[in-house]
Amino acid sequence: MQNEIQVLKNAVPPLLEWYGVHKRELPWRGTRDPYKIWVSEIMLQQTRVEAVKGYYTAFLEKFPNAETLANASEEEVLKAWEGLGYYSRARNLHKAAKLIAEKGFPRDFAGVRSLPGVGDYTAGAICSIAYDLPCPAVDGNVLRVLTRLLADERNIDEMSTRMAFSRLLREVYPKEAGEFCQSLMELGAIVCMPNGEPMCSLCPWQTICAAHLAGREEEFPVRSEKKARKAERIFVYVLKKEGKFALRQREERGLLARLWEFPNGTENAAATYGKILAEKGAKHIFTHVEWEMTGYLIEAEAFFPQFLWVTPEEMRENYALPSAFKAFKEWVK
Ligand code: ADE
Repeated sequence: MQNEIQVLKNAVPPLLEWYGVHKRELPWRGTRDPYKIWVSEIMLQQTRVEAVKGYYTAFLEKFPNAETLANASEEEVLKAWEGLGYYSRARNLHKAAKLIAEKGFPRDFAGVRSLPGVGDYTAGAICSIAYDLPCPAVDGNVLRVLTRLLADERNIDEMSTRMAFSRLLREVYPKEAGEFCQSLMELGAIVCMPNGEPMCSLCPWQTICAAHLAGREEEFPVRSEKKARKAERIFVYVLKKEGKFALRQREERGLLARLWEFPNGTENAAATYGKILAEKGAKHIFTHVEWEMTGYLIEAEAFFPQFLWVTPEEMRENYALPSAFKAFKEWVK
């Protein structure tokens, strides 16, 4: 432990120096506004930086502070989130904004951690980046970088490993906490990559990284075996009648809860709705399941009353449709 602390302490200055030169210009990197940093960190949960950039900028134009977000309707917030996935993030953001609008943005770790949708990682990132507090943010990227540096063979899917790295980081946090937090993330994102070749020749730690020195970078991090995703066959119906299209709201609970969708099911019922005009296949991968979809464009026989019938403009403006259905949106015109 003592030795690990010393190795990591020595690793901090070259990392900060590297970060100062090589960090990417990202839209949330110029601010210390906790509201904006919070929005960016929620968007960055389980979502790649490239996918987040555009959403972040548009979201902040629409909702520049907690008050504007708190005063928006849930539908408006979901619409701004449309396509980003994991929609409970948007709902929690909205809930939390109401608390923040009332009491101000929390100023310490416990307060930030208590916001809906904010876990240890996100609270650590927000407190480090906005307030320079020594609060570690340990995610898969950071664990990869650290287990390689130390050639640490503990399983990173174990909570105890995460906690151990969190404690270790707390010991070495420099006063530039925000820069340090982001430099670890950045190293994991652009140099110390997960699959294929990590770009060790560009790494500020190449002379001190135990995994690299032993030629064993690919062996870290050690993880539990992943469970295979379950595949589901889904039939999707884009029902069209007199320039209107059918939508339906998903169930209260579960995957994509309460979002809008094209009618669909696990049995092929296309012909029961009317005349099939076109057919195409598509696939969408979620965290735990994947959908193998067959979609049909159908001239509907009737305005089936179990559905909501909307024009293409209404659909675009007011209803958040998850990305899973994107392949079939081209029929809506
Ligand atoms: N991933 C999570 N938080 C991030 C941040 N602030 N910058 C880049 N990638 C991130």
